[in-house]
Amino acid sequence: MNILLIGSGGREHALAWKMKQSPKCDKLFIAPGNAGTSRCGTNVAVAVTDFEGIKSLVISESIGLVVVGPEEPLVKGLVDFFKKDPELASVPVIGPSAFGAQLEGSKAFSKKFMERHNIPTASYREFTSENYAEGVEYLKQHPLPIVLKADGLAAGKGVLICSDRDEALAEFEEMIKNQKFGSASAKVVVEAFLDGIELSVFALTDGKNYVLLPEAKDYKRIGVGDTGLNTGGMGAVSPVPFADAAFMKKVEEKIVKPTIDGLNKENIDYTGFVFFGLIKVNNEPWVIEYNCRMGDPETEVVMPRLQNDLVELLLAAANKKLGEASVKTDPRAAVTTVAVSGGYPGDYQKGFVISGHDRPFSEDVVLFHAGTQEKNNEVITSGGRVLALTAYGKTIQDAASRSRQALEAIKFDGMYFRTDIGYEF
Ligand code: AMP
Ligand code: GLY
Repeated sequence: MNILLIGSGGREHALAWKMKQSPKCDKLFIAPGNAGTSRCGTNVAVAVTDFEGIKSLVISESIGLVVVGPEEPLVKGLVDFFKKDPELASVPVIGPSAFGAQLEGSKAFSKKFMERHNIPTASYREFTSENYAEGVEYLKQHPLPIVLKADGLAAGKGVLICSDRDEALAEFEEMIKNQKFGSASAKVVVEAFLDGIELSVFALTDGKNYVLLPEAKDYKRIGVGDTGLNTGGMGAVSPVPFADAAFMKKVEEKIVKPTIDGLNKENIDYTGFVFFGLIKVNNEPWVIEYNCRMGDPETEVVMPRLQNDLVELLLAAANKKLGEASVKTDPRAAVTTVAVSGGYPGDYQKGFVISGHDRPFSEDVVLFHAGTQEKNNEVITSGGRVLALTAYGKTIQDAASRSRQALEAIKFDGMYFRTDIGYEF
């Protein structure tokens, strides 16, 4: 079967790497892909939101399965576009409908969904310019810190945690009145702060049944010791030592099952990944957020630990047969360290040549590309997050030190990476 994967990050390279290992995968196309995905298949210069371009590709290359990496095309209705088009309707797509993608695309939608299904999440209220004055009163009496969330997609920047009330009031005004995050912050969710440790849990669902993939933890801050600005993710580990069997049982019973049952009961068209952004507070799991896709850089440790044939699992999801599937996990730990451009997450330059990426790595190391491109037979940097180097190990520490060691051999101008991924385990 020919497969089309949509996206261009480290997540997509990890998905491409895993799908390419399947005997069921004939030709693999990636739109638009990066210099790493071009080693797993054929990159095609079609943007992730160019639905007509995607349609032409699906038809011309006889694509039998489409896998969507990022949230944007899902929230914008790629799945609905396929279902409505007679030439595409029979092609399975891994990803939810636009309605289902609101689990990620609208914080207010996801909070209401959790409320309806008694899924533990922080208490909240939602405000727009209509009830702005009420919002100000609400903020004046809300315990600190206060969490403000732009309702819509804001490129991972729409969440503010304010430990000062005046700051919260000023940000609230900026978001609603001055459109700090454009139309995404026309509606703001104000929610209680939860104090705990975070982890990422992933399910693949056919809308009724699901399988759980290995859990992971990502490291969002730029600096060693979880300091400095937030980024798209500087590294990830799997498994997560504090997510033991008893805790994961609670996660399944209190969060995963009620979520999938909720989607099913409400007839929400959802075939694809559900990413549960969780926080463990006093040994209990709470939902911080849902995403309608896999995590990045979590995928770069989840895929290496998944022992199943990924294409088989995805086809089982598309054919509503996930009830018969079970996941096999590599007992080894996996750690990925992300190498970023100097200056990231602020301004940074692109176009630097990357050396050392092509040398043979040992068997327990996999290099995934994120922001890379091919130019004149060289690989150059083309984004903030450039590479994700994943290593296996007996323990997280072991995997982490292999990951760092392997990165030492790779160079580009301004390259930076955290040297402490997994430090607390
Ligand atoms: P989100 O975009 O919803 O993932 O939020 C970004 C980050 O903000 C999360 O990963 C958490 O670290 C933090 N966060 C969001 N909501 C809360 C909350 N209610 N309590 C504590 N931290 C939160
Ligand atoms: N690593 C968090 C995310 O993918 O949103």
